Amino acid sequence: MSYIIRPWATGDLKAIMRLIRDSAAFHKALDQLTTTPELLRKDGFEKDSTFGCLVAELPPEQKSKDGRTIVGYQFHYLSYCTWYGRILFGEDLYVVPEFRGKGIGTSLMNKVAKIALEKGCSEFRFICARWNQPAMDFYAKLGAVNVTIQDHWHLCHIEGAHVQKLAQQARK
Ligand SMILES: CC(C)(COP(=O)(O)OP(=O)(O)OC[C@H]1O[C@@H](n2cnc3c(N)ncnc32)[C@H](O)[C@@H]1OP(=O)(O)O)[C@@H](O)C(=O)NCCC(=O)NCCS
Repeated sequence: MSYIIRPWATGDLKAIMRLIRDSAAFHKALDQLTTTPELLRKDGFEKDSTFGCLVAELPPEQKSKDGRTIVGYQFHYLSYCTWYGRILFGEDLYVVPEFRGKGIGTSLMNKVAKIALEKGCSEFRFICARWNQPAMDFYAKLGAVNVTIQDHWHLCHIEGAHVQKLAQQARK
């Protein structure tokens, strides 16, 4: 099986949206999904875009049983840590079940690590659900450290109405 890892293009949006939906279903979070191909196009390809995406693409003659050539993706964006400087944040890594265990996930991680170094990042961060032990194992093999266990860091969100409330109280 041959495949390439390449940056996304606008022609991939529908295929990536399908994978995002699969990933959300895998995480039992389909009801939380609000992105659309149009939003991805606007946020990813118009000015001020702050993130990138890599896709894993098969040649057409090796497409999946359900007709896909884009069979994996990973989003990434620059972030900053006051202790270490630039860091790259990975958002979502997904490979369709039919093509797992063939090195595609590792290839996506290899390429994102390369991007991290090219952008001067000292670290590559991402989150993983506690119940997703296969992915935890996969990341551990690549050298990932679980900082929730090691250092007791917890991921916090401020969402929706709370963001609005905070912003409304900003000093003029
Ligand atoms: C995690 C994931 C991206 C890995 O992609 P992949 O293409 O299967 O990974 P690779 O083929 O590069 O596998 C690398 C190694 O991890 C192991 N591995 C990968 N996924 C595994 C799984 N689900 N269960 C058990 N082992 C797995 C492989 O056996 C392989 O081990 P080896 O190098 O000793 O042979 C893929 O399994 C996936 O999409 N899972 C569902 C979504 C998910 O959990 N994403 C991560 C969210 S944080």
